[in-house]
Amino acid sequence: MTKLTAPEIRAYRVKDGKPPLVMVTAYDAPSARIAEDAGVDLLLVGDSLAMVILGYEDTLQVTVEDIAHHTAAVARTRPSSFVIADLPWMSYHISTSETLMNAAKLIRAGAQAVKLEGGRKRLEMVEALVSAEIPVMGHIGLTPQSVNVIGGFRVQAKNLEDTAVLIEDAQLLEKAGVFAIVLEGVPDVAARLVTESIGVPTIGIGAGPHTDGQVLVFHDLVGLENGVRPKFVRRYAELAEDATKAVSAYASDVRSGLFPNQSETYHASSAVTEEISIYGSKLNF
Ligand code: KIV
Repeated sequence: MTKLTAPEIRAYRVKDGKPPLVMVTAYDAPSARIAEDAGVDLLLVGDSLAMVILGYEDTLQVTVEDIAHHTAAVARTRPSSFVIADLPWMSYHISTSETLMNAAKLIRAGAQAVKLEGGRKRLEMVEALVSAEIPVMGHIGLTPQSVNVIGGFRVQAKNLEDTAVLIEDAQLLEKAGVFAIVLEGVPDVAARLVTESIGVPTIGIGAGPHTDGQVLVFHDLVGLENGVRPKFVRRYAELAEDATKAVSAYASDVRSGLFPNQSETYHASSAVTEEISIYGSKLNF
């Protein structure tokens, strides 16, 4: 598989007869290798790692250093998928210089692009990043970093007025230079209109089928996350169940003396074993 570039992703449209782009989150080397072997197009080191990996209640707790740490783990696998790292909350809200320095940390950790949340409020930061040669992915609709303002993880753009605002935000982001836009938690009709109204691809999560790609959280799709499961998550495996069965079988084998067996044990040569046994018999414990 050859790695897509930011300009290739920007030009990628389902309306041109291409299959939807496949994006999945990856927070560490094993998940990056699995996603890579499965042939995904885009890997997202999402700030969802706050909730999925670090056990926080929302995404507001992670720092640039946290995301850089996980981005570096993903990048060390040298994936042929394009790697995008999330700019966490408050890393792109204060000044363009702070935004640029924070994005540079993620690029130096191994990402090829950054993603940030919000529409018209973020245009200055998007433009500054693009002019510093950093590809930017937008993210509108349900933006989890706004959870306290929205009042929960709620579906957005549920009426005509909000859909018009969403479309305008997407158009403004495109004009500011983003190469793609994540649409999260919006009705299918709104996602379809946004997708038709802009010239860069949309990647949906909880946004229905009329987008240029789909993204899911790795742990949701493989069944490693047992928290709240939104209706848009499709489970393709039940790894948490399998892992619990595996660990309880191990615990039972340890307790009953069945683990480790002879083939799982290192042995010294018989001469050394005998020598050590004689030595041991002379020791007074
Ligand atoms: O952090 C994340 O996982 C995301 C996806 C939900 C798009 O931003």
